[in-house]
Amino acid sequence: MAMSPLLIANWKMYKTVEESASFARLLGPRLEGWWKPQAVRLVIAPTSLALFAMARHLGDGPVALAAQNLELGREGAFTGALSGYLLHEAGARLVIIGHSERRRYFAETDALVAEKVDAAWNAGLTPVVCVGETEAERDSGQTEAVLKRQLSAILTKPRDEHQPLVIAYEPVWAIGTGRVAKTEDVGQIAHTVRQWLGTSQGPEDVPLLYGGSVNPDNLGGFLRLPDVNGALVGGASLTLEGVVTMVRVAQEQT
Ligand code: PGA
Repeated sequence: MAMSPLLIANWKMYKTVEESASFARLLGPRLEGWWKPQAVRLVIAPTSLALFAMARHLGDGPVALAAQNLELGREGAFTGALSGYLLHEAGARLVIIGHSERRRYFAETDALVAEKVDAAWNAGLTPVVCVGETEAERDSGQTEAVLKRQLSAILTKPRDEHQPLVIAYEPVWAIGTGRVAKTEDVGQIAHTVRQWLGTSQGPEDVPLLYGGSVNPDNLGGFLRLPDVNGALVGGASLTLEGVVTMVRVAQEQT
């Protein structure tokens, strides 16, 4: 793996603002003295409400923040919506887009995901686009077709160097279930996706993450895959111990 691994903690709708801020306060001392931020990049995606409070603790330090979603546009009469600009101001530098939970519970389509990617770029955020097949799709041999459909919405558009992109492959059946995808399967899928991305879009340009029941014990196996450049971690990222151990595991791979 040529590039330094990227770990993104997706906290979903967990942790209060207080709990998130205290995590941010305690994280620095736990990483101090051994963590090399240029060797392992660490991003935390708390609830949007907690971004500002966490950013105050993290300051200009190497731990970056991500939002878990954004709505289109900059400002306007959209009750309840948070634009990329607001999220950026609150401290986010990346944004997760098209997570399977957003696709499933909030009816997000491939077309909307593509629009949100544009909205992220317009707001100066790096989109982390999630793709992945359901169990039924996998069982009927449609994994590649599903991934191709989900990715083509964003990959067919021309992109310049001011439009950074991260892709997370997350098989839906592996999310929050403890059922981890086989490393060899992930390796093969990541290889295929990397080929679709094109030779000019190497890992430095588009990091490819695996997500789905990643934990400190199985992380190393995924990071050793040549086409996998990091992980998107849900449940196992909710404890300080979990995050610190995963940074350590990732750093040992470098
Ligand atoms: P999980 O979630 O690690 O709890 O499976 C991953 C995700 O949903 O991004």
